[in-house]
Amino acid sequence: MCGIVGYVGPNTPSERPLEIALAGLARLEYRGYDSAGVALATPDGIVSRKKAGKLDNLREVLAADPLPESTAAIGHTRWATHGAPSDVNAHPHLAYDGKLAVIHNGIIENYAELRAELVTAGIALTSDTDTEVTAHLLARAYEMTGDLTDAMRAVTVRLRGAFTLLAIHEDAPGVIVAARRNSPLVLGLGEGENFLGSDAAAFISATRTAVEMGQDQIATVSADAVRIIDADGNEVTGRQYTVDWDASAAVKGGFATFMEKEIHDQPLAVADTLRGRADAEGRLKLDELRIDESVLRLINKIIVIACGTAAYAGHVAKYAIELWCRIPVEVELAHEFRYRDPIVDEKTLVVAISQSGETMDTIMAVRHAREQGAKVLAICNTHGSTIPREADAVLYTHAGPEVAVASTKAFLAQITACYLLGAYLAQLRGNMFGDEIRSLLDELGTMPDKVAEVIGSEEEIARVANDLADVPSVLFLGRHVAFPVAMEGALKLKELAYIHAEGFAAGELKHGPIALIDEGQIVVVIVPSPRGRNELHAKVVSNIQEVRARGAKTIVIAEDGDADVEPYADVIFRIPKTPTLLAPLVAVVPLQLFACHLAGAKGLDVDQPRNLAKSVTVE
Ligand code: F6R
Repeated sequence: MCGIVGYVGPNTPSERPLEIALAGLARLEYRGYDSAGVALATPDGIVSRKKAGKLDNLREVLAADPLPESTAAIGHTRWATHGAPSDVNAHPHLAYDGKLAVIHNGIIENYAELRAELVTAGIALTSDTDTEVTAHLLARAYEMTGDLTDAMRAVTVRLRGAFTLLAIHEDAPGVIVAARRNSPLVLGLGEGENFLGSDAAAFISATRTAVEMGQDQIATVSADAVRIIDADGNEVTGRQYTVDWDASAAVKGGFATFMEKEIHDQPLAVADTLRGRADAEGRLKLDELRIDESVLRLINKIIVIACGTAAYAGHVAKYAIELWCRIPVEVELAHEFRYRDPIVDEKTLVVAISQSGETMDTIMAVRHAREQGAKVLAICNTHGSTIPREADAVLYTHAGPEVAVASTKAFLAQITACYLLGAYLAQLRGNMFGDEIRSLLDELGTMPDKVAEVIGSEEEIARVANDLADVPSVLFLGRHVAFPVAMEGALKLKELAYIHAEGFAAGELKHGPIALIDEGQIVVVIVPSPRGRNELHAKVVSNIQEVRARGAKTIVIAEDGDADVEPYADVIFRIPKTPTLLAPLVAVVPLQLFACHLAGAKGLDVDQPRNLAKSVTVE
C-alpha cells in the first residue's frame, strides 16, 4: 500500500527527475490511489505539489503550477490509513522549517505519543497523518546532527510499526535518504543515476540491476553512489539481483485495461512458472527450495497461509497435495492463523502464498509460524520482497508484474506452483513415480494452450456480462476443486463490479443458501468433468436443476462435449477437457473475464477498484 519512488540523476531535457518520478508513480499507482504528490530538491530549496485523487489530478496541478528544475525527486501515491484522502493529508509532508520533505509507506504505531511530544515543543501539525510526525522529528534531529543520514538513524530507532521513509533536504539537493522496516523498498542502480521504488516496476524501464534493502537499514543515495548502513551505523552490502520482469509487461500493450491484458498473459504465466522445473528424465527438480530433502521427507502436516485470491490458490492446492502426497493440508487465512495458537512443530511445512510478498498479514503469519518451529516455504511472484526473504525456502511464480489490483495471472501461476510443489513432495516421498510424474507434467504442459482457448471465448463472455450489468447479485456454485474457483469468481465480481456475490460449495446450498434463490437470481455453476469422478458431475448437474426449478437463471461453466448440462443452462461457457484436479486453471478464466467486462459495462475503473490497493502492507 502506498507507492514510493525516488530518483537522483542528471537534469537534462530528456531526463527530468520530475518526469521520471511521475512515470514511476504511474507504474506504482496500483498500490494506492487516494492521492499523489512529489517533492523536488532544487538549488533554491524544497518544492512540492500534491493532490487528492489519482495521479492525473496531480498532473493537472503540475501543468497549472509547474515546478522548477531539480536533481532529486521523491514521489508518493497514497492508500489512506491515518487521515482522510485529502490534499492536506497527501504526501510529501514538509517539516516545520520547510527545508525537508518526507514520503512514507506503512503505519507508525506510536505516532500519537510522538505527535504529543511535538505539540508540547510548540510545533503545529497541519495534517492528520502519522507521516507528518516523522518530517518534524527528522528536522529536529537534523538540527542536532547536521546530516540527513544521521538524522534518519536517530529518528527510526524511535519509530514503532512499519515504514519505508524517503527524505530530501535542501542542504543536500542531490541526495535521498531512505529507511525501511516491515515495508518494501528496492534500489535501482543506473549509470550516473539511481532509483528507489516500492518495487522494481518503478524503475524497470531504466535499469534491471536492483539491490534489496534489509530490515532497519538506511540508504543514502546520490547520482553515483549508494551507501547502506544498518541501525547501528555499520556499513552493509545489500544483495544485488537482476530484475527478470519484462518492461513491456508493465504496460497495457493495446488492451483497454491492465486486468484484461493480464488475463491474456495467463498462458505465458503458467508456461513460465512450469519452465525449467524438470530434468532431462522428466523428474521434477526444484533446486531453489533451500529446505533439505530429508526435512521435507519427514513433513507430516502442511498449513497454507495466505489472503484473498492467494488463499483460494491454497484451497486448490489442498485437493492436489492431499491426493498426491497423503499429507494433511490445512488452509488458513494468514490474519486468522497469526492470532491463534496453531499446532505446528518442526514437522509442519507452512506454505505462504503471496503475489506481492509484502502482504503484512501474511508476513506476520510467516513470523508466527517460524517462531513455533515450522519451516516456511514461500510461493511468491516478487523477487526480493519480504516474504521470500524471511521464509526458509521459496518457489517463485513467474507471472511477471501484476499491475491491476485484482489478481488474475498471479492466481494461475500460484496454482501451477502448488501443483509443482505437491508433485515434488510426492516424488520425494515415493507417493508418485517416474511415469506418473511425467504424465502429470505433460498434462500441465498442455494447460497454457487450454487457458488460451478459454480466453478465445472472450467476446461471447463480454456479451453476456454486458447484458447483466444491472444485476444486483450473483451466486457462484462449485464442488471439490471448483469450490475455491466459485469463491474466487465471487471475489472478482465483488471487488470489480461492486455487486453482491457469494461463492458456495454446491452441496451446501440445501443447508440454507438456497433460500436466496428467487425469480431471476443469476447463479453461475462450475461443472466438473463428466469423465473424471462421475458422481461429482451428476451431483452438480442436480444442483443446477434445483436452482433452475426455483427461478434462477443459470450460467454454466462446462467441459466441451458435456451435453448433460444443456437442458438446464441459460448460458454455457465451454472449457476444454481437463483432468479434474487441474480444471481450476481453465474454469476460473471465464469468471475473470465475466467480472472484468461486467465492471467495464458499468463504467467502473477495472484496474483500480474503489477502496482497494494492490499490496496490503498494513494489518
Ligand atoms: C484479489 C486480490 C487479493 C490478494 C490478497 C493477497 O483480487 O488480489 O485478494 O490476493 O490481498 O495479496 P498477495 O498475494 O500479494 O499476498
